[in-house]
Amino acid sequence: LRASFASKAQKENSQKFNYQLQPQASYKVAVLGAAGGIGQPLSLLIKMSPLVSDLHLYDIANVKGVAADISHCNTPSQVKDFTGASELANCLNGVNVVVIPAGVPRKPGMTRDDLFNINAGIVRDLVSAVADNCPGAFILIISNPVNSTVPIAAEVLKQKGVYDPKKLFGVTTLDVVRANTFVAQRKNLKLIDVDVPVVGGHAGITILPLLSKTRPSASFTDEEVEELTVRIQNAGTEVVEAKAGAGSATLSMAYAAARFVESSLRALDGDGDVYECSFVQSDLTDLPFFASRVKLGKKGIEALIPSDLQGLTDYEQKALEALKPELKSSIEKGIAFAQKQA
Ligand code: NAI
Repeated sequence: LRASFASKAQKENSQKFNYQLQPQASYKVAVLGAAGGIGQPLSLLIKMSPLVSDLHLYDIANVKGVAADISHCNTPSQVKDFTGASELANCLNGVNVVVIPAGVPRKPGMTRDDLFNINAGIVRDLVSAVADNCPGAFILIISNPVNSTVPIAAEVLKQKGVYDPKKLFGVTTLDVVRANTFVAQRKNLKLIDVDVPVVGGHAGITILPLLSKTRPSASFTDEEVEELTVRIQNAGTEVVEAKAGAGSATLSMAYAAARFVESSLRALDGDGDVYECSFVQSDLTDLPFFASRVKLGKKGIEALIPSDLQGLTDYEQKALEALKPELKSSIEKGIAFAQKQA
């Protein structure tokens, strides 16, 4: 990001003396649902990336203005807008990373599962178009309920014969971002240093922050563990209630998703040190999908990181067992939806 804001003189200097360190703007990114509460700030943040050459913004309405507005930022990527299903194929052609924040957000009183029927169909149709037009792309699913929409996406890709489990990601980065923020505040740590892995899924008790694995290491009383865990699990509701009918988390979500997009691009670009938590196909537990830290590489997931799940505290072990039935049923609900529609 710093590279994109540098003055001309700074750039010329760094190009002369430090050329290899300058990232190449050569990746195409598509945002599906780009005119929405998340889509707009997310698109703006992706426009800041020095790794992006083309930024394709798609929505069913109102995306022309968003694209015109963002396109005036003097960062490398070319911005193009695409409206409606007839322009979706063109939007996706040749794209390396597809991010999907399309769908309806939660209103007060709604659970993520209440969103299921609307968002399940939207994700199914969008992923089907991805399968047809850019089957090799990294697919980043934001639309909730992530615990079900990721299995739906997997089924659609399987039906189209192009499923690569290494390239399908449920974006749970916001849980990590929140955990890092709340832990740093509670323990008076420097925020930038704090890293808390969050595993499981992306709704209620399926969100399991592993506080015992916080880096740098920190100690927590039982009360702190309980309080922080519950706050991280319910942080989405904090925002839904504060917005009082105007939607759910959009700005922090855009920040979190932009971080995941940037990590994906760095991995594609050959950086060998990229790790993120994500809800992915997994064999770390007996569930077919599970969020954990993963190592990202040019071809997607290079490795799932099992070590976070070893040596859990009693509290974490019990919470892990407790979340499994709910996560299992959300996964099965997604698979059943996709299979019924096939
Ligand atoms: P929003 O309603 O502000 O925006 C959604 C956008 O999707 C709108 O612009 C709408 O026109 C578009 N859209 C609807 N159907 C579409 C289709 N078939 N194709 C393309 N675009 C379509 O909603 P917001 O707040 O941006 O939330 C979007 C989704 O993200 C929701 O499902 C929400 O629950 C989820 N979310 C996920 C989080 C996570 O951590 N993974 C956190 C917060 C929200």
